[in-house]
Amino acid sequence: MSANPKITDWSGRIVWVVGASSGIGRALAEALSAQGARVIASARRSEPLLSLKPACARCLTLDVGRAADLQAAIKTLEGEHLLPDVVFWVAGVYHPMACEALELDGVRETFEINTLAAYVGLKHMLQAWALTPGQPRHWSWVSSVAGYRGLPQAAAYGASKAALTYLAEVSYLELRSKAIAVSVVQPGFVQTRLTEKNNFTMPAIITPEAAASATLRGLARGQFEIHYPRRFTWWLKLLRLLPYRLYFQLMRSALPNPPSQRDS
Ligand SMILES: NC(=O)c1ccc[n+]([C@@H]2O[C@H](COP(=O)([O-])OP(=O)(O)OC[C@H]3O[C@@H](n4cnc5c(N)ncnc54)[C@H](OP(=O)(O)O)[C@@H]3O)[C@@H](O)[C@H]2O)c1
Repeated sequence: MSANPKITDWSGRIVWVVGASSGIGRALAEALSAQGARVIASARRSEPLLSLKPACARCLTLDVGRAADLQAAIKTLEGEHLLPDVVFWVAGVYHPMACEALELDGVRETFEINTLAAYVGLKHMLQAWALTPGQPRHWSWVSSVAGYRGLPQAAAYGASKAALTYLAEVSYLELRSKAIAVSVVQPGFVQTRLTEKNNFTMPAIITPEAAASATLRGLARGQFEIHYPRRFTWWLKLLRLLPYRLYFQLMRSALPNPPSQRDS
């Protein structure tokens, strides 16, 4: 039995992609529109939303970091009879940083956008959905494999995504009785504006279009966790099972030695 009702036919479904102006969200919005969904595309920048191909049914600019924006957006959708059947929560930011060089503004933004905003969006959408209970709905969180275990440079990003995955698990358990399915998407490396910040070779990196296809395949199978590319993510899942001692040893051997150890 699958974890969620399988979604194989998108025609006529109202789908809200939050974070649709670039990268994975953009590719998802375009793939969904091409498959007949009525896509509501949201992000802060409006021009990229207007250039989506095929065009989305509705563009709604908003900053998920502002609770009032989210609340107003959901009210607008209610007023236009466009309350979504499916929400893809994709919006996210990435500030790589080491513990010795923490930038607190970056830490704050990471948690505000990647984590806190998710709670705000969920709260307001659940309130709106509660007015028409019993209809099948689906909420898909785009988290990250960076939340599986502690990774260097990911003190803020990885922790924010670990929290998001936790929220995904809790919401899956709790919303089932309300006919609201929940899934969590755990991408490995995807070639987007976000990963342009990385100055290392990213293993098994894929295009946003491939990420969107893999996401929709996972929903068609009714999976709770959709992780890809599997040739990379299965290794990370294996690492997650290791006891700390072994995990730290393996990570240390894979990372460059700090200067003090190199010199001795
Ligand atoms: N790329 C990867 O390798 C990778 C791996 C794992 C997980 N992810 C996750 O996948 C998601 C999409 O990332 P991406 O790689 O596609 O990066 P991206 O191209 O930078 O896309 C991020 C999206 O989030 C939106 N966004 C950011 N801050 C926002 C805000 N305050 N309000 C509304 N929208 C906001 C951006 O739109 P505006 O800037 O126009 O607002 C954009 O549409 C993120 O949650 C990321 O953490 C990515």
